Amino acid sequence: MRFVGLGSAVLLASLLALVGVCSGLSDAPRGVAVGFVFDPKARCDPPCAHAGICIRNNTCFCSRGYEGETCQYANCYPKCKNGGECLRPGKCRCPPGFGGRYCHKVTCDAGCWNGGECIAVNGVAKCICPSSWTGSKCQEAICPQGCRNGGICVAPGICSCPEGWLGGACHTAVCAQPCLNGGKCISPDKCRCRPPFSGPRCAERKKSH
Ligand SMILES: *[C@@H]1O[C@H](CO)[C@@H](O)[C@H](O)[C@H]1NC(C)=O
Repeated sequence: MRFVGLGSAVLLASLLALVGVCSGLSDAPRGVAVGFVFDPKARCDPPCAHAGICIRNNTCFCSRGYEGETCQYANCYPKCKNGGECLRPGKCRCPPGFGGRYCHKVTCDAGCWNGGECIAVNGVAKCICPSSWTGSKCQEAICPQGCRNGGICVAPGICSCPEGWLGGACHTAVCAQPCLNGGKCISPDKCRCRPPFSGPRCAERKKSH
């Protein structure tokens, strides 16, 4: 089986006049191709779909917007992009992650936050995040310094520290009572003392024996 596809109605009129096969076709909606012979007794089985015309045995001439042996396929111009399917002329059905008339637009279902940009990577919609954010929606801040001791990165470079810890990376312990005699606060309210001092605040001097 073959099909013929060609557009212009003006061309149709002149061609039909040329080959002299006007009978029965004067109301036909679409044009015909150069160089074929129209057979008014032609039979097409299966029949031509979408108002295609059977011009020879098992040869359909398709209406504008359709193609295929029996004119069964719709055409979309511009073509459906990103794996979209042409449902009817000019109407695409888009796969998940794509939208727009020709499926040319990428859509990230959950959106991209914090200035992230939705783009297609190997046909998959994906948020491209600014450098200080990460996660599928760019919802997670990045703290390059790290947040230690149970701190949480709440904004780029900003840690929220648990009680008892301070500093950009929550790396500085807080001792409510300062450590004395050169002792060092090593975790919340815990001093490491320099000899010969001891005690919670390094206030006591060990007896020398
Ligand atoms: C078209 O098919 C019909 C029957 O199927 C046959 O009688 C006829 O001769 C065919 N016409 C041509 C041009 O082959």
